[in-house]
Amino acid sequence: MGLVACNTGTTTNDPTLNSETWQWQLPAFFPTPAVPADNPMSVAKVELGRHLFYDQRLSGNGTQACGTCHLQEKAFTDGLETAIGSTGQAHPRNAQHLSNVVYNATMTWANPALTSLERQMEVPLFGDSPIEMGINDTNKAEVLQRFQQDTQYQQLFQQAYPQDTQPVSFANIIRAIASFQRALISGNSRYDQFLTQQAVLSDSEMRGKNLFFGEKAECFHCHGSFNFNDQVRHAGTRVVELPFHNTGLFNIGGTGDFPFPNRGVFELSGRAQDMGKFRAPSLRNVAVTAPYMHDGSIPNLEAVLDFYAAGGRHITEGIYAGDGRKNPYKSDLVTRIALTEQDKADIVAFLKTLTDDEFLHNPKFANPFITKP
Ligand code: HEC
Ligand code: HEC
Repeated sequence: MGLVACNTGTTTNDPTLNSETWQWQLPAFFPTPAVPADNPMSVAKVELGRHLFYDQRLSGNGTQACGTCHLQEKAFTDGLETAIGSTGQAHPRNAQHLSNVVYNATMTWANPALTSLERQMEVPLFGDSPIEMGINDTNKAEVLQRFQQDTQYQQLFQQAYPQDTQPVSFANIIRAIASFQRALISGNSRYDQFLTQQAVLSDSEMRGKNLFFGEKAECFHCHGSFNFNDQVRHAGTRVVELPFHNTGLFNIGGTGDFPFPNRGVFELSGRAQDMGKFRAPSLRNVAVTAPYMHDGSIPNLEAVLDFYAAGGRHITEGIYAGDGRKNPYKSDLVTRIALTEQDKADIVAFLKTLTDDEFLHNPKFANPFITKP
């Protein structure tokens, strides 16, 4: 006799019985996130997803997990300029932080067509240019077997997908990790506490806030939503806007070019007007996500402010030489701003109020395979 559900009197066919429904813990001014109809949230799925997110067995050679490049204490980025995959291949772009990733209308730095976490995940799992986690046709079955044979996972999968007879599949792995990522809500920074009258900001932070949201520095045009970006999608969104911007980081030889393969939306569309256009990142937890920009080429927030005050980056020597301030495709919103040293320091001080320590240390988002002392 098997050890089937002893005295609950229930069968495992009804998904609602085994999976407690998910309750969002949202600040009052956060909209309800959009969740795909074919992947509803559940506590069990988020918990399975957390395990898988941190499990190195999910890479072909067993050396890398999502959490290798997405570290909680860095708001789920990795601190590197550009990422390194499981077989040592270099990724051309900077690993992104995942705070409030559920609200992003598109995924990654510059891909208007990639609109779901489920679809995005196929890139790190199965992609081969560059190789990230290195799962391929040769090792696919072996990778699944690692989870099929593990008794803890048998239970976690069963709880997350009680209606499935063979719950350990890549489709279910992807659904669970996506659910975990949708749970990564960051809304308890000092700035959020200020908005709800639970904290006060210093004079410098207040001046920085006013500059950030004012017409002189213009930051809010692209970073002005509750999530400090300009591509937001939630349950109530009717029209999704997908702006991408060239901020004048490069202008190779005065042609407007950015370095291959980091030319932004141009890499996919091939249209000149898309040259150097990237998605404005959410600035939540920005103080812990250095280095900055799609290529990690700006080391700290002070340098980011110098960059915006100059209205772009002038590279005077080397293969990328060119005056980004004069890039013909640059956004009109990025122009020289007369900011004093104090103004810049104030904006940096404001940006630092967006750090959410609770999020960075929340045990519900932490690596379940490490028990902290
Ligand atoms: C080798 C390091 C690496 C690994 C491993 C990795 N990522 Fe990433 N991740 C990146 C990089 C780099 C980007 C930016 C990609 C781009 O713009 O082309 C990114 C982007 C993302 C994004 C988009 C975030 C946004 O704001 O649009 C999500 C979501 C994500 N990764 C989730 C995952 C998940 C889930 C896994 C595991 C299945 C994973 N990543 C594994 C490096 C990595
Ligand atoms: C025209 C839209 C636009 C404006 C205006 C703008 N930004 Fe940005 N911001 C972006 C885009 C796009 C990126 C990513 C660029 C890239 O990687 O090539 C970015 C990147 C950043 C980053 C790096 C974040 C990261 O995770 O790498 C910071 C910090 C930042 N902006 C702060 C500011 C501040 C402060 C202002 C006002 C002085 C400002 N931005 C004005 C669009 C804008």
